Amino acid sequence: MSGVAKQAGLQVNEVYGVATFYSYLPVAPTGKNVIKVCKCVPCSLKDVPEVVAGIRKAIGVAPGQTTADGKFSLEMVNCIGACDQAPAMMINDTLYGNLTPAKIADILSTY
Ligand code: FES
Repeated sequence: MSGVAKQAGLQVNEVYGVATFYSYLPVAPTGKNVIKVCKCVPCSLKDVPEVVAGIRKAIGVAPGQTTADGKFSLEMVNCIGACDQAPAMMINDTLYGNLTPAKIADILSTY
């Protein structure tokens, strides 16, 4: 970000503000598989806390963290465009909708 700021004639905080606006632009190292759980209202109204609890139980880290083996990162993100399948999450580029805590272990076992 310092290099980009210098090249563009901007302050580093301006570059940081743009880089962190989109959840799809990581500004720190992530795990091999990035789990992005939608935190917006339509999903939140349909059991997101229970889904996140299931993920936390399965991989042992909280949102914003990466597992010690680097296999998974867990992030809470804004709408991923699957509101009709709420609650929804993405793992890397794959969408999973209509989630329930019971589905989480099966989904994660494929990674
Ligand atoms: S509100 Fe969750 S995918 Fe749109």
